[in-house]
This record gives sequence, C-alpha cells and structure tokens, in this order.
Amino acid sequence: MSYSPLNRPWLLGLGWFFSESRIFVFMEIESREKLLLDAMHNRYACKRFDPDKKLSEEQVDTLIESIRLTATSYGLQLMKLVVVESEELRTQLRAASYNQSQVTDASHFLVLCRERDLDESHFEAYVNNISGTREIPREKLDLAKQNMMNSILSQSANDQEIWMSKQVYIALGNLLSACAIMEIDACPMEGFVPEEYDKILKLKDQNLASVLACPVGYRSVEDRNAALKKVRRSKENFLISV
Ligand SMILES: Cc1cc2nc3c(=O)[nH]c(=O)nc-3n(C[C@H](O)[C@H](O)[C@H](O)COP(=O)(O)O)c2cc1C
Repeated sequence: MSYSPLNRPWLLGLGWFFSESRIFVFMEIESREKLLLDAMHNRYACKRFDPDKKLSEEQVDTLIESIRLTATSYGLQLMKLVVVESEELRTQLRAASYNQSQVTDASHFLVLCRERDLDESHFEAYVNNISGTREIPREKLDLAKQNMMNSILSQSANDQEIWMSKQVYIALGNLLSACAIMEIDACPMEGFVPEEYDKILKLKDQNLASVLACPVGYRSVEDRNAALKKVRRSKENFLISV
C-alpha cells in the first residue's frame, strides 16, 4: 500500500499529542518528505486506463484548481483549460492523437490551452482583476499594465506563442504532481495534432490554441507500464554542485 498519513492515524495522533514538542516537528517533516517522494516514485505515465473507474466531482474539481493556481509569468495566466465531456468529441480527439487509447478510456480528458493572439484586452482584464481582488484603485495599475505590454507585445508572435506555451507546461507539472499526491493516474500528452484539436474543439473561435492534453483516472490492471521500473539519470549524472 502506498504511503499516506491518512493511512496512519497514529502519526496524526502523535502530531496532535506532541504538538508543542520537537518530536512533532520531526515527524511532520519526515512525513511530508516521504509523502512527496513516494508520490513522485509511484506516479507514471499511464498508457491504459480502466474506463469503468471514474473520478468523483470533488477529485476533478481539485485537479482543476491545481491547474488554475499554477504560477505564471507576471501572473497573467494566458491559458485556459478544456474538460472534454462529450464522448463523441473524445473519439474524434483520439483519432487526432495517433489513436492513443487514453483519450477515450480515462475517466476525464483535459486539454490545456494557451491564448492565441495577444492584445491590450488581455492586460486590461488582468489589471482589472488585480484591482478588484486586492482593492487597488485601477489607475494605480496603469504603469504596471504598460510595462507588461511593452515587454510582451514587442516580441514576435512566434516568441509570444512559445512563451505562453512554456507556462502551460508548468501548469501540466502542477497537475501531474496533484494527481500523484491524490493517487490518481494521468498521462501527460503532447502526442497529438494541435491543429486538429483546435478544429474539433473550436478553439480558434475562443482565441485559444491547444498545447497539451492529460487524461486522468485509474489504470487498467492490464497496463503493463505500471510495473516498469523508473528510468532516470542517476543523481551523479544529474546534479551539479558548484
Ligand atoms: C510533455 C510530455 C508529453 C508526453 N506525451 C506523451 C504522449 O503523447 N503519449 C504518451 O503515452 N506519453 C507521453 N508522455 C509520457 C512520457 O513518455 C513519460 O512521462 C516518460 O517516459 C517518463 O516516464 P514516467 O512518466 O512513467 O515516469 C509525455 C510526457 C511529457 C512530460
């Protein structure tokens, strides 16, 4: 059984009992490290999902939040998430994904998108959001808006696309970590034809472009990848200390 403090009520009990002591601090730190590393070791790119095992609404909402709360450059969040509920659309997307079965078989199918063409309206919407959320007079944010626009809109359209896409990859990382911690299976996917996805999901109409996809759910017992050892560079061949 994989590690989870919820499986070990004695640990939580100890934490409560010794809440003023060093023992509590030590146990807490160890449990968080172990929780994270076990989750990272146990996750894998799931190739075959069990179509009968569904995630709860609460689980899906939590995964969506893990994406929505991702860090983005300036906090601009030039991205959107599409949850594909229609089975018909998922069948079409599978055809545009080199027939990868995860697209139709996973409990839920998520497509992470970036904005397509940037203009002043994106920056205006953002500063309005800051103003409303943090109760800052809108005019105090004029300079910040101008600075963001100067640095981003002066780049070529291609550079803007790359910059926005990079941030969608960070969001995917958040999602994968959230899945790992929640013991939900996922498969990060860039193996699809983005132009086809954009057509099927009518993304252009919403000024969006697909970047990544991620089926989430539970593995099939027949997924042989689940038992494969992780292949990673050794720490010696990965870490440089200077
Ligand atoms: C950006 C990205 C795109 C990927 N695209 C696909 C894909 O289209 N189909 C697939 O089966 N796996 C895909 N993978 C999964 C990788 O092959 C897998 O993460 C890698 O081999 C490491 O194995 P692990 O995730 O099981 O530890 C992708 C992974 C990443 C990070």
